[in-house]
Amino acid sequence: MNWREKYQDKLRSVEDAVKIVESGDKVMIQQAHGEAKTILRALVDRAPELRDVTIMSHLHWGPADYAGPDVADSFKGWSCFLSNSNRKEYEAGRIDFQPMFFYEMVDFYKEINTPDVFIMQVPPPDENGMCSYGLNADYSVACVEKCKKLIVQINPAIPFTYGSAFSLSKATVIVDLEEPLVEVPGGDFGETERKMGEYIAALVNDGDTLQLGIGSVPNAVLAALKDKKDLGIHTELFSDGVVDLYNAGVITNAKKTHHTGKFVSNFLMGTKKLFDFVDHNPDVLLIPVDQTNDPYLISLNDNMVSINACLQVDLLGQVVSDSINGKQYSGPGGQVDFVRGAKRSNGGKSILVMKSTAKKGTISSIVPQLPQGSIITVSRNDVQYICTEYGIVNLFGKTNRERAQLLISIAHPDFREELTQQAKSLGML
Ligand code: COA
Repeated sequence: MNWREKYQDKLRSVEDAVKIVESGDKVMIQQAHGEAKTILRALVDRAPELRDVTIMSHLHWGPADYAGPDVADSFKGWSCFLSNSNRKEYEAGRIDFQPMFFYEMVDFYKEINTPDVFIMQVPPPDENGMCSYGLNADYSVACVEKCKKLIVQINPAIPFTYGSAFSLSKATVIVDLEEPLVEVPGGDFGETERKMGEYIAALVNDGDTLQLGIGSVPNAVLAALKDKKDLGIHTELFSDGVVDLYNAGVITNAKKTHHTGKFVSNFLMGTKKLFDFVDHNPDVLLIPVDQTNDPYLISLNDNMVSINACLQVDLLGQVVSDSINGKQYSGPGGQVDFVRGAKRSNGGKSILVMKSTAKKGTISSIVPQLPQGSIITVSRNDVQYICTEYGIVNLFGKTNRERAQLLISIAHPDFREELTQQAKSLGML
């Protein structure tokens, strides 16, 4: 059979495709735009006939119906990253959380926790039956390689990207289903984010290579970079703001020392503007997360600048980014991968950014000591730049006393005196 005949042979309805899932299976789904919602819904509808199926996910947009109390005998959840879509189910004990550096996930899924079933969405194959990974190479390449059963949804709404590909003959079953993609705009930003963006932009030089997460601060940073030249992108994910800077001639990738001339990422999140930009674009390389996020490979980019969000920092420079008061909030993702990779790069910088206060200005995000039970994301030995709307400081190579002084200088003015007194009583100043 040629690949077109195999395609026809494997074609199923959504309801028939999910019949390959058996009780006891570990089923991994793709994250973000790759989430095949209709197939997942059909799987949850099989709850009466299934037992002990684990649904594994990363950044999940939901709904997390599989983790509902009504289907608890049939399904349980497992995740490396919590969001508004599944945090409640985690707190209710129906989703287990797995901490791990993002770049280590490839070996983890290949060697240690290989899913039985992988569910993915891709654009239509090329004339040779080869499939692009669309918007998700991340851990998807490892799962396609190692899973026992592969459910592929062919969705023409997914753009065709380069960098990673697989033969459609790997599919166990195929679902032909066009569905619109959820669009995720970057989000507006206010005066606070604008100030942070300007402090960070002042540290970015022409020719630097950037990693930015998504959200209001990365957008504000991108907006502040419009007068730079020859910037490059080596990141975990990118979104619409990067397209705007490319169109403005600011991003050329020409000065990159690793994958020169290419945008490098492992997944993508954005709107139609981004999907159109990456579709059949030979300058965009979508490659697995161990190739984008391994700190050594990141450091092959000279002048690598990583910019990520955090939630709380103590006066020693210990950073909490993915939990609040010891309770899991999101996940470490690739934050530490890039903090370490950027710091190791020639001329590199890692920048962590947060608002100076939380809870509507009632508490300081810079604290003398972290609350008992806090989960540290970035250690005091790894940390480099910390930015708030009151400035940016470099903690690397600084003593405990200097760190406390520097961090108090970028705390909200209403909390500086109190922080100074607390630091003195702890013997830090
Ligand atoms: N006590 C209580 N609540 C706190 C708090 C504290 N000390 N600090 C923050 N919060 C609250 C905020 O008020 C906010 O609540 P709200 O939504 O009800 O206003 C919430 O926690 C989230 O804070 P916010 O500043 O809005 O963060 P965010 O939504 O922009 O997300 C991270 C920031 C840090 C959670 C997110 O970037 C992340 O998960 N980072 C780790 C992963 C990563 O960086 N990966 C690499 C790049 S993709």
